[in-house]
Amino acid sequence: MRAVDVILKKRGGGELSREEIACIIQGYVSGEIPEYQVSAWLMTVYFRGMTPRETADLTDLMLRSGKTMDLSGIPGPFVDKHSTGGVGDKISLVLAPMVAACGVRDPMMSGRALGHTGGTLDKLESIPGYRTSLSEAEFRVFIARDGFAMTGQTDEIVPADKKLYSLRDVTATVESIPLITASILSKKVAEGAEALIFDVKSGSGAFMKTLEQAEALAESLVRTGKAMGKRIVGVITDMGEPLGLKVGNFLEVEESLDCLEGHGPADIMELSYRLGAWMLIAADLAGDLKEATAKCEKAIASGRALELFMANVRSQGGDVDKMLALRGRYRASEVFELKASSPGYVAGIDAYKIGLAGVNLGVGRNKTTDPVFPDVGLVFEKKTGDQVRAGDLVCTVFARDPASLEAARPLVETALSYSPAKPERRPLVIKEISAL
Ligand code: URA
Repeated sequence: MRAVDVILKKRGGGELSREEIACIIQGYVSGEIPEYQVSAWLMTVYFRGMTPRETADLTDLMLRSGKTMDLSGIPGPFVDKHSTGGVGDKISLVLAPMVAACGVRDPMMSGRALGHTGGTLDKLESIPGYRTSLSEAEFRVFIARDGFAMTGQTDEIVPADKKLYSLRDVTATVESIPLITASILSKKVAEGAEALIFDVKSGSGAFMKTLEQAEALAESLVRTGKAMGKRIVGVITDMGEPLGLKVGNFLEVEESLDCLEGHGPADIMELSYRLGAWMLIAADLAGDLKEATAKCEKAIASGRALELFMANVRSQGGDVDKMLALRGRYRASEVFELKASSPGYVAGIDAYKIGLAGVNLGVGRNKTTDPVFPDVGLVFEKKTGDQVRAGDLVCTVFARDPASLEAARPLVETALSYSPAKPERRPLVIKEISAL
């Protein structure tokens, strides 16, 4: 089979057979098919799309390009959550110990900050000593002992995605529903979870800016995951403004501790309870959302979720005493305070602009090789719907040097909008698609 014939067929809008998709994927991983042909093929998929059957075959072939985590011998149920990426999204740090406290085993394989969105691994690595590249043996031991573990993707897991994702990044073919579906699902299935809850973000700070795009991605993830024999729920949630009050690597660890102690911001708690409830239902540990939410609330109120978080920090090499000593104090030295210029209400905080401000500060990165810093970021005193008087502090920005502070400042200033009347509250959970 010739790669050029597969490209021609897709260019003309044809449906590719499994063998034709395999020709491209296996040929690319083995080095037989050159990047220029794979790039052309990606562009045809971008414009022509894929049928559900093609998307499922692509996902399965990508999954089979590497090894899968072996969780045999550890009692389940194994359930994980995946977010399509946002700003201030520290839900994983709260959710994993919370559901572990309820009996779920969460084999969490997370990513790093890229573009304007934050990354769970960067947040965790801001804890002194915390290691995010675990061996499979460590991953297994920690899941069995603490109920969850958090690691990065290894070279052996879905190597096809590693190569394809970098190529998509430089060929303007990232924003394709079948390619995103296959990329995300192949990695999630490889980590060994039996059920998956997808938090598909919608809004300015999300990959999928419109609700229609988010719905299409959620439906594709649910349909393809189901075709691969997994129990799946897609939850579409708002990412129009950052989640919580803190955006930054260690700042978000601090806010996660607040949540685990039961006094976190309302939006983080609402989303953690909702996603956690779906995880419990998917694990057959609760019959409905009401019962599942009550169990999640108890895991926080009893302190058990916090205990498991601390156990995980110790397991993964983190220094709990140092983490607690830095709490509330780990702040870069250059500071800018944004104050309200007139009385009224906060009408919105543009998550995309705040995410970009974060990239300038070193919360996130432009290139995978860029460094990130633990002590930079933003702390909000007000969120959408809060009343402000002229001169009230709205946000504090922490930077390592004047240049990055100056780069972030206009983005933060223009991210905030005000209105004389109280704006209507937008729902955080927009739509839920269950295939349990
Ligand atoms: N995240 C992924 O892992 N893959 C994509 O294609 C998009 C977001």
